[in-house]
Amino acid sequence: MKARHSLLKGFGGYLPDRIVTNDELATRLETSDEWIRARTGIAQRHVAGPEDTAVSMAARAGQQALDYARVSPDDVDAIIVATSTPDQAFPSTAVRVQAELGITTGFGFDVAAACSGFIYALSTADALIRSGQARSALVIGSEVYSRILDPDDRSTFVLFGDGAGAVFMQATDDADGQGILSTHLHSDGRYGDLLYVDGAIGQSDKSAHLKMQGRDVFRHAVAKLSSSVDEVLAANGLQYEDVSWLVPHQANLRIIDGVARKLRLPPERVVITVDRHANTSAASIPLALNEAVRDGRIRTGDLVLMEALGGGLTWGAALARM
Ligand code: UT7
Repeated sequence: MKARHSLLKGFGGYLPDRIVTNDELATRLETSDEWIRARTGIAQRHVAGPEDTAVSMAARAGQQALDYARVSPDDVDAIIVATSTPDQAFPSTAVRVQAELGITTGFGFDVAAACSGFIYALSTADALIRSGQARSALVIGSEVYSRILDPDDRSTFVLFGDGAGAVFMQATDDADGQGILSTHLHSDGRYGDLLYVDGAIGQSDKSAHLKMQGRDVFRHAVAKLSSSVDEVLAANGLQYEDVSWLVPHQANLRIIDGVARKLRLPPERVVITVDRHANTSAASIPLALNEAVRDGRIRTGDLVLMEALGGGLTWGAALARM
């Protein structure tokens, strides 16, 4: 008997209209376009306007993914939104999106795993589909980090951008090698103080700001993403040369290049958005996937490796045959 798999059927993305360049940041902060590009690969980022929220951006990206897959609201069983910047403590971003998209059946919930959120949400959706609890899932990463950054902290303010990305997944019993092959999740709470937000939604005495020990997170990212890549390939009996595309979390071009070098993948096989989007946390992988599928780079049959590391620390990888 063939096992049930999740196929990636739809892709969507949303980026706020306002673009902020490095030069614009350098007019206010003690930084420079040269430093930001050299250390991170970032040239600009999209920043949410007053009308953009985690829900509104997630709904725009989610609708695009449903349109791409040519499915209707009735076809959506589960909605999982990965976000660390929800608009409110509850209801979850996912059920707000459910209402926005006119979906009246199924269920929705949020996943909080910082920059690894999309891998965690994808893994959860895949498990729901494989177990038969859902026939389909809309998986969205939506983040408004501009609302949790300290405007006076140059070491974090220049790194992040806002946006949302989405995939629509559907169950198949006849995958023919296609779909999510496996996902692998890890966390280690001992490193919680390397990257965190010093407050909670709704705290009235102070606004919550992101804090990061960049150099330490960088060190962990290189080591843990490297072992994640080996883990996901070994679990599927595959080699570096089998990978068609690396679609990494977009935190820093130097980290991405390090993983690509390990995989011996040429730069043209790595999907890069960090230069234009900066780090959009849980939204970065689905935004990159959406771009590369729509411009024809990623095609049916390609083996796509996704990986991420974020606050927690959390990290993981997923492998999919498109
Ligand atoms: O997505 C979640 C996971 N996050 C990550 O993976 C991020 C991982 N970390 C990184 O990407 C890098 O560590 C950063 C991009 C955050 C920083 O790059 P770095 O090469 O590790 O720089 P650094 O933190 O060691 O700082 C080097 C210098 C420092 O000055 P001193 O102490 O050497 O005098 C900083 O104060 O650069 C200074 N600096 C800046 N200078 C100009 C820090 N931020 C800036 C800035 N502009 N924006």
